[in-house]
Amino acid sequence: MKNRKPSNFPPGPWPLPFLGTVFAKMDFRTMAKLAKDYGKVFSLRVGSEKMVIVSGYKMVKEALVTQIENFAERPVIPLFHRVFKGIGISLSNGFLWRSHRKFAVFHLRMFGEGRKSLENNIQQESVYLCDAFKTEKGPFNPLNIVNGAVSNTVACMIFGQRFEYHDERYQTILRLDTECVKLLGSPRAQLYNVCPQLFKYLPGPHQTIFSNYKKITNFLRGEISKHREDWDPANPRDLIDNYLTEMEKKNSDPKAGFNVEGLVIASLDLIEAGTETTATTLRWGLLFMMKYPEIQKKVQEEIDRVIGQSRQPCLADRAIMPYTDAVIHEIQRLGNVVPMGFPKKAVKDTTLGGYFIPKGTTVWTILSSVLYDPNEWETPDTFNPGHFLDKNGQFRKRDAFLPFSAGKRACLGEQLARHVLFLFFTSLLQQFTVSKCPGEEISLEGEIWFTYAPPPYRMCVSSR
Ligand code: HEM
Repeated sequence: MKNRKPSNFPPGPWPLPFLGTVFAKMDFRTMAKLAKDYGKVFSLRVGSEKMVIVSGYKMVKEALVTQIENFAERPVIPLFHRVFKGIGISLSNGFLWRSHRKFAVFHLRMFGEGRKSLENNIQQESVYLCDAFKTEKGPFNPLNIVNGAVSNTVACMIFGQRFEYHDERYQTILRLDTECVKLLGSPRAQLYNVCPQLFKYLPGPHQTIFSNYKKITNFLRGEISKHREDWDPANPRDLIDNYLTEMEKKNSDPKAGFNVEGLVIASLDLIEAGTETTATTLRWGLLFMMKYPEIQKKVQEEIDRVIGQSRQPCLADRAIMPYTDAVIHEIQRLGNVVPMGFPKKAVKDTTLGGYFIPKGTTVWTILSSVLYDPNEWETPDTFNPGHFLDKNGQFRKRDAFLPFSAGKRACLGEQLARHVLFLFFTSLLQQFTVSKCPGEEISLEGEIWFTYAPPPYRMCVSSR
């Protein structure tokens, strides 16, 4: 009775009793196939949970922008809820979410404008990144170095320090995190969402996810304790120090949720949301440059013309480097690192695409269907920087460029990610040419984890 579809609910495949449509894999390719059969707004049922899947630029924009207030909350997804507990930033709601999001946005802005500015930190990190590339003598997989470099830009903000790429403790944390991102996308782990009461006693990938996150949160608790020992509210060093101050200020307002547990989860949110996404994008970028050497050459020509070889790239260069900017946008479009977006919940009864969506329904706005929408892009399946260039070779913005999503829950680290991508990408191509290793083929067939990642690859780099 509970699972009966309300009238005028979006159509979808016939669900099995109890299990629902759990055998429809929750990945963007399956969603694209189902959208062909059932339309831009269709429904699925996972266990007893009804969900609505929204595809294509027009419909996703309608949900996230036109109806900005209606899909601004997160649903409870058991697999995530066990770890994130509805607190922090990414998976919280209401006043607690607003207070934490405001705090994080403010901190990111302060950090960007402060004495040890964001730009300096990223430039400094790009020196370490290039040095690490230089020490590689033969073909190598850039995964660990890129993860280490990107995570340091987030670590500087949270912990006020960077970690060496061979720091065993921190590398272990990154490895555990990457493993979680892989497993979260696996259909077997998603079975936990069907019946958490049962699966919490059964072995399976969900247990690895929980145990990895336990180790990550223990690491964070340790860092927070260290901060508390020499915390000086008059001289905040990083996000943790600022959060400790906020905890004192908001002592009388427990609903804002500023406490040690909130700090652990908020830090986890930023590391989780910031590292894997940005690092994966950069790895797609290097892979596309290996695959399309003529495009790499044009980027290098622009770098040589605008920046030269005697100074480091800086953020002001981006405005006068339309080709490089277009290439980075195209990497983000075709790389499509968060293809499913992140789930929302209907805040009230509403209508979308002519269908009725009851309050509380989980809604997925599929970002890959926007980034690959054949009505918006001239060559949706091909790497084509021309998507972002006008006929005079100047950069042109595109409405359907939504890798960071849109609306109230849109990515709050967009500026940081864009800065990191520009400075790391230009620094690397200023100093190196990347190419495929002799005898090895380049595949652009990505791996579907929770993110969409390039297949493991090795590359050869030569100094310029
Ligand atoms: C290329 C890199 C990145 C991509 C593609 C990306 C993409 C996204 C997407 C698609 C969402 C979900 C938005 C929605 O629910 O509609 C999101 C949320 C979020 N991102 Fe990012 N992100 C990136 C980097 C970062 C960075 C560097 C940070 C911070 C250090 C960050 C922090 C967050 C947070 C905290 C949320 C949750 C926002 C909320 O629920 O209010 N992201 N991101």
